[in-house]
Amino acid sequence: MLDKDIESVLISQTDIQNIVSRLGREITRDYHDRFPIVLGLLKGCVPFMAELLKVLDFHLEVAFMNVSSYHGGIESTGDVRIDMDLASPVKGRHVLLTEDIIDTGRTIKAVSDLLLYRGAASVKVVTLMDKPEGRIKDFVPDYIGRSIPKIFVVGFGLDYEERYRNLPYVGVLKEHVYTTKE
Ligand code: PRP
Repeated sequence: MLDKDIESVLISQTDIQNIVSRLGREITRDYHDRFPIVLGLLKGCVPFMAELLKVLDFHLEVAFMNVSSYHGGIESTGDVRIDMDLASPVKGRHVLLTEDIIDTGRTIKAVSDLLLYRGAASVKVVTLMDKPEGRIKDFVPDYIGRSIPKIFVVGFGLDYEERYRNLPYVGVLKEHVYTTKE
């Protein structure tokens, strides 16, 4: 049913599996002896993080923060809001931030700076997608699934007005979805 609103598939389910396997190998190599906190930024991280956790072959702690900047629309508002803070102390811990996408870089920069200010031993970032052309804040993620052009995408965690997060792939919405919304 959701497929009918999708113009084209940008990252297929097979692509996602391959990306996740590769990232799992890289992160396992770098973190196997660090007992990191793998910190997901809700809500977009959920499908990607669920897949990634399964291929991380070492001891880790899972945590979440709920941070938002888009507030439902198709463009970042620039207002990064912490709606739910993480419960675990980060002082002295290695933190691996897990994102579905980095666009302007505002969210990830704000959260990284906050965690370093709180005394994290290190903060690195893994993102399924990176949109470097969208950058407003200088930021280079440590692990990138796929670099994508500056287009608005939905699925596999990414929403348009809270819908489409449950698509099993990443795709481009048909234009009529924006123009004929009730
Ligand atoms: C999205 C995404 C990132 C952020 C990236 O979250 O999950 O956290 O925007 O954009 P930026 O680089 O321009 O800051 P959003 O604020 O839409 O919240 P959500 O994860 O709940 O959808």
